[in-house]
Amino acid sequence: MLKKSQKIIVGNWKMNPSSAEEARRIFLSAKKQALKLKNIFIVVCPPFIYLQQCKKLFIGDYIALGGQNICKEHSGSFTGEISVNMLKNIGAEYCIIGHSERRAMGETNEIVALKNRVALSAGLKVVLCVGEKERDINVAYLDFLKNQIKESLYKVERKYIKDIIIAYEPIWAIGSKEAMTPSDIYEMTIFIKKTLSDIYGQEEALKVRVIYGGAVTFRNAEDIIVEGKVDGLLVGHESVNQDGFRRIVKTINEIN
Ligand code: 13P
Repeated sequence: MLKKSQKIIVGNWKMNPSSAEEARRIFLSAKKQALKLKNIFIVVCPPFIYLQQCKKLFIGDYIALGGQNICKEHSGSFTGEISVNMLKNIGAEYCIIGHSERRAMGETNEIVALKNRVALSAGLKVVLCVGEKERDINVAYLDFLKNQIKESLYKVERKYIKDIIIAYEPIWAIGSKEAMTPSDIYEMTIFIKKTLSDIYGQEEALKVRVIYGGAVTFRNAEDIIVEGKVDGLLVGHESVNQDGFRRIVKTINEIN
C-alpha cells in the first residue's frame, strides 16, 4: 500500500510488450525493485491481457497493478471494453483515466468524468491524466488545463478526492526526447493544486498527489522530483525497459 512518505512511480506499459513471457520478465524486474526499495511505491499498468498473470506473480501489497483505461458502463453490450468490476476482480487497485492517447481517440472530459466516477465509487484509485497540447505565448494553456481538470472531475465527490492522483503530462513531451523543465513542472504543479483548491478547498486539494509524465528517464528523474517538486512519476516507454526503469526507481528511492 502506498505510504504517505513514498513517491509513487506508475509504469504505463501502453501497448507493450508483444508477448506474455516478456511481460512476465518486465513485471518480475519491477517487483524485485518494489521489494527492495522502501521510499518508492510502484504501480504497474500493463495491457489488460497481462494483468492476471502479473497478479499471480506476487502476494502482498508492496506493489500494485492498474488498468490503462476503463469502460464508463458497468456491464452490457460494449464490445472490446473492460469494466470496473473486471479490473477489480482481477486484483487491480488503480486505473489510468483520461490519458492523452485515449483522449486523441475521442475521449472527452465528459467521458473522463463518468469513468472517474465509476472507478472511484468501485474503490479503485484513479491516475487522472491531464495536460496541454502546446504552450502558446498567450498562456491559453493554463485556461485549457484548468477547464480540463474541472470538467474531468465533474461530479467527483469530495470524499473520493484522496483516491485521485493527478498525472500532469504535457502532450508535447510524451514520447519526445526532452521532458518539461523542472522549474516549469513546479509552476504547473502549483497551478494544478490551486485549481483543485478552487474546486474542493485547500485541505482536500493538499491530499491529492500530483505526478509528472512525459519523456521521463533515469537521467532527468531526480531533477523532476527534486526541483519539480512532484509526488511521483508516470513513466511510459522506459517502464518496459527493465534497466531504464530500474535506474529510475533506484534514483528516486535514494532522494529521501
Ligand atoms: P513517455 O514516458 O514514453 O514519454 O510516455 C509518457 C506517458 O504517456 C506515460 O503515460
